[in-house]
Amino acid sequence: VKPAGQRVLLTGATGGLGAAIARRLTAEGAELVLSGRRADMLAALAEETGATVIAADLSDPSDVDRLIAAAGEIDILVANAGIPATGRLAAYTADQIDRALDVNLRAPIVLAHALAPAMVARGRGHIVFMSSIAGKSATPRSSIYNATKFALRGFSLALRAELRSQGVGVSAIFPGFIRDAGMFAETGIKLPPGVGTKSPEHVARAVVRAIRHNRAEVDVAPVGIRFSALLSGLTPELVLQSGRLLGTDRIAGKFEDRQAHKR
Ligand SMILES: NC(=O)c1ccc[n+]([C@@H]2O[C@H](COP(=O)([O-])OP(=O)(O)OC[C@H]3O[C@@H](n4cnc5c(N)ncnc54)[C@H](OP(=O)(O)O)[C@@H]3O)[C@@H](O)[C@H]2O)c1
Repeated sequence: VKPAGQRVLLTGATGGLGAAIARRLTAEGAELVLSGRRADMLAALAEETGATVIAADLSDPSDVDRLIAAAGEIDILVANAGIPATGRLAAYTADQIDRALDVNLRAPIVLAHALAPAMVARGRGHIVFMSSIAGKSATPRSSIYNATKFALRGFSLALRAELRSQGVGVSAIFPGFIRDAGMFAETGIKLPPGVGTKSPEHVARAVVRAIRHNRAEVDVAPVGIRFSALLSGLTPELVLQSGRLLGTDRIAGKFEDRQAHKR
């Protein structure tokens, strides 16, 4: 589908990647419905882009229902909101596990469940899920994040096959480390030499490409990270072991410390 003239619901619009996606889709001529929790940021985005805004907490199922009802007819869903559920499993409370699953996985599934039937009825529409390279390869102290992002990949591919003949496209996006804005950039973590990044604009362009050309999956990472993700799919244990030699344990500890406040 061409985004121009289409009504797009974007979650996580107040975040680093969401803001770039909102700007890109506005430039493409889409009509935006933006969501997030922070009402002040949503108001600023509404002013900047002319979008409709709806504040909602996706960890609260009744708020997800309220968002769906308020959004009205939607041609394209971009389920982008997410929390960086990093850290040792033992460091989590059961409530924090629920919140991570609700925001990163339940909300995208429930939004797709609610919005897809009208797309099928119109014979046209698109659904984009924001996974991560963490949806293709696992790292230490990231079990809950890996669980939600791997799950989104499976959900996206299966739903794509299910809706293929009904005119509705489904895509998943897999960003690696994104510089300048967003949950990785905010940590200030310095990556080992040779590990590259991409920009929020690269992610936004990938979303538009996925919608326009109905791409199943789009990676947004330098070739080294994409190769490692590919290898992970073939031989995960080998990649985990070689990661240890390259110092993933030390970096995982930094992510755990610096993202803990977002649980
Ligand atoms: N940045 C990266 O390097 C990177 C890499 C791979 C994948 N990703 C994925 O890309 C997506 C966007 O990440 P980002 O980097 O833009 O992160 P971010 O800057 O932390 O933004 C996260 C967004 O999710 C929203 N959100 C969080 N908890 C929510 C809740 N309970 N209810 C409703 N909305 C909630 C936030 O809204 P409020 O703050 O207003 O609540 C915000 O808009 C995520 O799914 C993330 O996993 C990011």
